Amino acid sequence: MFTRAFDRRVRIAAGVLGFSLLVGASFGTYALWPANLETGYAPEQPIEFSHKIMAGDFKIDCLYCHSFAEKGAHATLPTVESCMGCHDVIQPKNPDGSLRPGIAKLLEYWKKKEPIPWVKVNDLADFVYFDHSRHLAGGVKCQECHGPVETMDRVRRQFSLKMKFCLDCHSQPPPVGAPPHQTTRAPINCNTCHR
Ligand code: HEC
Ligand code: HEC
Ligand code: HEC
Ligand code: HEC
Ligand code: HEC
Repeated sequence: MFTRAFDRRVRIAAGVLGFSLLVGASFGTYALWPANLETGYAPEQPIEFSHKIMAGDFKIDCLYCHSFAEKGAHATLPTVESCMGCHDVIQPKNPDGSLRPGIAKLLEYWKKKEPIPWVKVNDLADFVYFDHSRHLAGGVKCQECHGPVETMDRVRRQFSLKMKFCLDCHSQPPPVGAPPHQTTRAPINCNTCHR
């Protein structure tokens, strides 16, 4: 019914359409996959605060600033006052003698006696029970849940905080020397996290 050339064009068009649908569908699935929606979130912060400088280069201990991680449910963020414990004295300057922009902002918050409105990066569903201190006591490292924070100029969410993330770790084999009735690294019964 059609000429050969026309027939070939129809086939090519169909091929191109099929291919682009496939690419579109794969990209859509990737972009909307729950874990990919949740990971990599790295909001801009009121002060460009670099963990790479503080925890990486200068090796300040995580617990120096997030001191409640050992004691309770929340790791908490440091107060302006605790920043000033160092920056009262350490005030790096630009070559022209003016204060580095991050330090200038810090001193402004300090002068106004206002807390720094940090933007939350990791946010677990409110109906889930979580406790930092239990994990630290159990020998879990910050990096197992937050990734290599000490290499990040801006903190990003490394893992989704979905149920699978928690269970992938909890259901690992128990540590050596665990009592014989312990069959997983950590409890996996529902009421551990849903109380
Ligand atoms: C000098 C103080 C300081 C040190 C040391 C420090 N942090 Fe932080 N951390 C902060 C501040 C301030 C914020 C909030 C601003 C931001 O998100 O960048 C923060 C944010 C975070 C967040 C994101 C919080 C959220 O909203 O979810 C994580 C996770 C974190 N720190 C982990 C670590 C780990 C792990 C270490 C050690 C390798 C560490 N921090 C060392 C001060 C510090
Ligand atoms: C077992 C996983 C796990 C470990 C280990 C862990 N965290 Fe977290 N962290 C989380 C989760 C989950 C949240 C989100 C909590 C929420 O939204 O209620 C969080 C939140 C935070 C926050 C934001 C403030 C807060 O308390 O909600 C900071 C800061 C933080 N973690 C720092 C640390 C540091 C520093 C360490 C190591 C000393 C650490 N975390 C170890 C899972 C972990
Ligand atoms: C234990 C000491 C200590 C504490 C506590 C501390 N810092 Fe720092 N901070 C340093 C050191 C050391 C440097 C690097 C100074 C340099 O580059 O010479 C630094 C650098 C910085 C810079 C980068 C300046 C630049 O070069 O652009 C900013 C911004 C900053 N700190 C903000 C904060 C904030 C905000 C807090 C509180 C959440 C804080 N610091 C807490 C020691 C500290
Ligand atoms: C990297 C491993 C790891 C990850 C990820 C992890 N946990 Fe755990 N969790 C542990 C270990 C190990 C313990 C046991 C600590 C101990 O020995 O008491 C534990 C204990 C707990 C406990 C206390 C259990 C009890 O009653 O004794 C709760 C609650 C809990 N985890 C919730 C969570 C939630 C919610 C998440 C996800 C946001 C999570 N955990 C992610 C390793 C992990
Ligand atoms: C180690 C911690 C942990 C354990 C154990 C656990 N959950 Fe969850 N669960 C979570 C977290 C974290 C979420 C939040 C997921 C989110 O933000 O969407 C969740 C969410 C849920 C939801 C809401 C729907 C969803 O998937 O988001 C249901 C329903 C649920 N869990 C049922 C269960 C049941 C049933 C069990 C026992 C077989 C169980 N959970 C054991 C951590 C846990």
